[in-house]
Amino acid sequence: MAVALIVGLQWGDEGKGKIVDLFARDYDYIVRFNGGDNAGHTVIKGNEEFKLHLLPSGIFYPEKFKVIGNGLVVNPETLGREIDEVEKRNYSLAKFLLSSDAHLIMKWHQLMDGTFASKKIGTTKKGIGPAYSDKASRTFALRACDLLLPEEELRKKIETIASHEKTLFSAFGIPEFDAKEVIDTMLQASRKLVPYIADTQFMLNRAVRDKKNILLEGAQGTMLDIDHGTFPYVTSSNATAGAACTGTGIPPNSIDRIVGIAKAYTTRVGKGPFPTELQGKEGNALRTAGNEFGTTTGRPRRCGWLDLVVLKFACMVNGVTETALTKLDVLSGLDEIKVCTSYQLDGSGISDFPLQPEKLARAVPVYENLKGWKKDISGCRTMEGLPQEAADYIGFLQNKLGVPIKTVSVGPKREQTIAPPS
Ligand code: GDP
Ligand code: IMO
Ligand code: MG
Repeated sequence: MAVALIVGLQWGDEGKGKIVDLFARDYDYIVRFNGGDNAGHTVIKGNEEFKLHLLPSGIFYPEKFKVIGNGLVVNPETLGREIDEVEKRNYSLAKFLLSSDAHLIMKWHQLMDGTFASKKIGTTKKGIGPAYSDKASRTFALRACDLLLPEEELRKKIETIASHEKTLFSAFGIPEFDAKEVIDTMLQASRKLVPYIADTQFMLNRAVRDKKNILLEGAQGTMLDIDHGTFPYVTSSNATAGAACTGTGIPPNSIDRIVGIAKAYTTRVGKGPFPTELQGKEGNALRTAGNEFGTTTGRPRRCGWLDLVVLKFACMVNGVTETALTKLDVLSGLDEIKVCTSYQLDGSGISDFPLQPEKLARAVPVYENLKGWKKDISGCRTMEGLPQEAADYIGFLQNKLGVPIKTVSVGPKREQTIAPPS
């Protein structure tokens, strides 16, 4: 065991938080590498639950390092609140670090997002796109390292950017923001974060050299990746395996385990094509059974059958070495379970994922029907303990994907898992 990487294979919310928390026991460092507080990762230990937006899903392990990598865009207020909540609940953050190179989300990013992209894409309105845009355009961005500047210097820097943003806002007709209020809030939040800011690339590479075990935690999922997802209905970061290197500074050749997380069916929040989506009663039933409501925004998630065309593409671009199948318990009680194995597109059968959203929107799923099982499987802890039909479902997927399903999750709790001994 050395460096392992966890990525979502669908449209996010696959249960990455649960699997990271589960795996974290065997790792010394848990490192988030992309996204921002658009993510919502649920971790549960006993009767305790956290819904984490920025902190890595290792907070139940005070003795392990938890790192926010340079690839994130961080809302200082959200992070400050999350730190407060974790500390209030008596979990130490003595070993938490925030990369000095992580970019900051400011009030104007959220306002911009809420005005434009949220309508077209159905974003979380957290300011993710505008903050990554400022990072890419390099002129008016703020990073965590700026919070280390003397207060007057920082205030001036924010003031300069705020006045530029105000000009943009009036040109676009967006309602004004109070620059003084933004600056004061930012300075207050920054005081909280300063003790955690570090040049994390060096410490992570020292850890690699010292053969420490490192777990890299992705946010969102492959279909939301800005390059490989269903553009433009995607997020603004790379959510695929390559981002684990750019978003942390850990080199590619040190990663030896790539775990793709897939839900036993498919969900999506926000707009964009979704070939296996179920409308009406069937979709509602799946949503209720799986409690499919957004962790970050509370929006109902769109639900549908498992799509192997998506999963095969995701396994390919991520170089997945093993998968974890989550929420299998949610499918219990169905007479029949459908799995999409190919698409019909403009009269031809295809098994390669269509990269253009216009094509994807025209793709008609071709299903294979598998027998369901009636038994509640949330108490199962071994593959042998599963009903034959559930074992057949796993076998079918594994066979089609050509990647081993090593972990099966049968409930939200840590122990509700079928996993090989570590
Ligand atoms: P993430 O964004 O990938 O970390 O996933 P979320 O936390 O946003 O959403 C997954 C939801 O499913 C959370 O409410 C989890 O507690 C829950 N969950 C995770 N694994 C399972 C499982 O195997 N079965 C059930 N029923 N719920 C699960
Ligand atoms: P986790 O890490 C599910 C979706 C939004 C929207 C699109 C763009 O919990 O899996 P953004 O605010 O990022 O600009 O929105 O991406 N989205 C997610 N959907 N899980 C997430 O994160 C998501 N993060 C963003 O709903 O469709
Ligand atoms: Mg989530």
